[in-house]
Amino acid sequence: MNSWLVRALAVMLVLCSRDALSCPKRCTCHFSAKTTEVVCPDAGLSHFPGDGLPPSTTSLTIQFTNLTVLTSEHLRAVPLLEELHLPGNKLSSLPADILKDLKYLHTIDLTDNELRELPEYVFRHAPLLNLVLKDNRISNIHPDWFPNNSNLTWLDLSGNQLMKFPMAQLQNLRHLKVLHLSQNKIEELPVGCLDAHTALERLYLDQNKIQTLDVKAFSGSTNLTHIFLQKNRIDSLPPTVFQELKRLEYVDLSDNRLQFLSPGILDINTSWVELTFNPWHCDAKIEYLWRKITMESLQSEPKCAAPENLKDRVIATLTRKDMGLKE
Ligand SMILES: *[C@@H]1O[C@H](CO)[C@@H](O)[C@H](O)[C@H]1NC(C)=O
Ligand SMILES: *[C@@H]1O[C@H](CO)[C@@H](O)[C@H](O)[C@H]1NC(C)=O
Ligand SMILES: *[C@@H]1O[C@H](CO)[C@@H](O)[C@H](O)[C@H]1NC(C)=O
Ligand SMILES: *[C@@H]1O[C@H](CO)[C@@H](O)[C@H](O)[C@H]1NC(C)=O
Ligand SMILES: *[C@@H]1O[C@H](CO)[C@@H](O)[C@H](O)[C@H]1NC(C)=O
Repeated sequence: MNSWLVRALAVMLVLCSRDALSCPKRCTCHFSAKTTEVVCPDAGLSHFPGDGLPPSTTSLTIQFTNLTVLTSEHLRAVPLLEELHLPGNKLSSLPADILKDLKYLHTIDLTDNELRELPEYVFRHAPLLNLVLKDNRISNIHPDWFPNNSNLTWLDLSGNQLMKFPMAQLQNLRHLKVLHLSQNKIEELPVGCLDAHTALERLYLDQNKIQTLDVKAFSGSTNLTHIFLQKNRIDSLPPTVFQELKRLEYVDLSDNRLQFLSPGILDINTSWVELTFNPWHCDAKIEYLWRKITMESLQSEPKCAAPENLKDRVIATLTRKDMGLKE
């Protein structure tokens, strides 16, 4: 080999290895055979830590910093990225082409930023499976955020400002297994709102303002195993609302406004229904619930709120006479 070539090779090697094992200031980097993880937790950081970012980075975490701007130019430096964790920063928007060159990105966590509006197409360019937008200020979801062949399985929109169940907007997410919509301001579940989500297993709707459930509210999603409805304003339930959910394991209805349950509603194959903190009215109408609790050992200990003489009595301890029923 001539000396020029040897030198060129040597320089390339040095450049490559220096680059491959570099790490941005204020960040820590972990290298392994298959992954390169970069974590930048420094509160003093206010710009994207592009200098020294290893091109082999597969997981990038920038958390609890003053970062306000992120562009596709920044992310072009890490084309092998699979996970992008950005919790606790100051991002208020994202450009539509942000994920343009990220062919392997499957997870984005944007918890606790200042996101309000995101442009259409914003999540179209990567093969996303997990998207966390928890604790932002989102009130509108654009129907074109997601591609129509999206493989998203986990979507977390809890802690935002949604007033309505985003039915049309999530229509493309046919592989969704987990949907978090807790802590929004949703007032109702439109008929057919889950029809597109036949693979859905866990639905989190707690801490909203839901008052009633349509009889067909969950009928599209027969794979549901867990439904969280606690801390809403539900005052009645249609008797067959859970009937088609053969895999249902857990329903949380605690802290609502239920006074009694229609007979039949809990005749389902479910191991746990949480019913505490409802204003149960312990007269003859409570008999169905009392039977479920005493005879099928339903795992919950709801108490009476009325009438006055039975206030705070555990329903399981009522006698037929207490409920005004014949002995
Ligand atoms: C973050 O930015 C704010 C406002 O720009 C500034 O007051 C604060 O000192 C910054 N924090 C750090 C740790 O640099
Ligand atoms: C979803 O998965 C299918 C099958 O693996 C694939 O063809 C398609 O491109 C994926 N969609 C997206 C948006 O990555
Ligand atoms: C999905 O989107 C692509 C491109 O935007 C379009 O060509 C295709 O017809 C759409 N498919 C469906 C089923 O809507
Ligand atoms: C429902 O769950 C079963 C078992 O996990 C699975 O085989 C099936 O594909 C799921 N249905 C849908 C529509 O995803
Ligand atoms: C109820 O669940 C048990 C345990 O998962 C299962 O063996 C049984 O077949 C189910 N019964 C019905 C009626 O779905």
